[in-house]
Amino acid sequence: MYLSATDHRIPLSDGNSIPIIGLGTFSEPKLTSKGMCAASVKTAIDVGYRHFDGAYVYQNEHEVGEAIREKMAEGKVQREDIFYCGKLWTTYHEPEMVRPSLERTLRVLQLDYVDLYIIELPMAFKPGDDPYPKDENNKYIYHNTNLCDTWEVECHPYFTQEKLLKFCRQHDIVLVAYSPLGTSRNPFWVNVSSPPLLKDALLNSVGKKYNKTAAQVVLRFNIQRGVVVIPKSFNSARIKENFQIFDFSLTEEEMKDIEALNKNVRFVELLMWCDHPEYPFHEEY
Ligand code: A2P
Repeated sequence: MYLSATDHRIPLSDGNSIPIIGLGTFSEPKLTSKGMCAASVKTAIDVGYRHFDGAYVYQNEHEVGEAIREKMAEGKVQREDIFYCGKLWTTYHEPEMVRPSLERTLRVLQLDYVDLYIIELPMAFKPGDDPYPKDENNKYIYHNTNLCDTWEVECHPYFTQEKLLKFCRQHDIVLVAYSPLGTSRNPFWVNVSSPPLLKDALLNSVGKKYNKTAAQVVLRFNIQRGVVVIPKSFNSARIKENFQIFDFSLTEEEMKDIEALNKNVRFVELLMWCDHPEYPFHEEY
């Protein structure tokens, strides 16, 4: 598959296509200053990113929309150049809440459509506008759901997802890897007992050979096997760095060596919700 900075969309079975790298936009709302998300999306568009992964619950979707609209107004991009993925939060799983939630996302973005709208997590919470509903004992209030759907999957060299990837390839499904760099390691929702991915000795030594960082190696590893990556960064140097993955390729042996790093380590464990009846990570994917 030929991939370049200006031509890196991969086909989907419905005739559409998806850029193989996107900018993740989740950032702890309390730790992120106003305007930072918009500035990062604008930098990313200038760098060449055309895919943005966002969500209403991230509380910055308006900034993503503002940045995209500004770049459209400048004539830098047209709407059809951009691929935006929005997400249905867990408190809106009731079927009659899905459409209004999508319509609210469109209002917040001030765009006419999104390219993809996915279920953020397959676990429903009590319906309503409180995104993290809790009872008087400070326990999360869950909601019954029969949801048996697919949604985006964590994927990186410590969690290579061989079985799932094989299944997806057989069925013409494109896999989107969230947390492709191994997350921000926030202990509230991340399993930090596993070592940081980007400190890995092999990834760093492969990077040295190509004058690339471990982050660039892990992103290249996934796109080279056809997996879409959505690394999050609100730092302009790292936004650029993460996009500079089209000017080198890993040898077959390096791909194999990196695959062998797999530890089946899931960083995004969401253990605070592990008693939810639909908690997905008790099962293998
Ligand atoms: P920052 O936004 O300050 O760049 P993931 O996409 O796997 O969830 O990882 C996101 C985390 O990795 C964020 O904390 C982000 O911080 C950081 N990050 C993004 N790009 C790089 C990079 N090239 N090198 C090191 N850390 C990075």
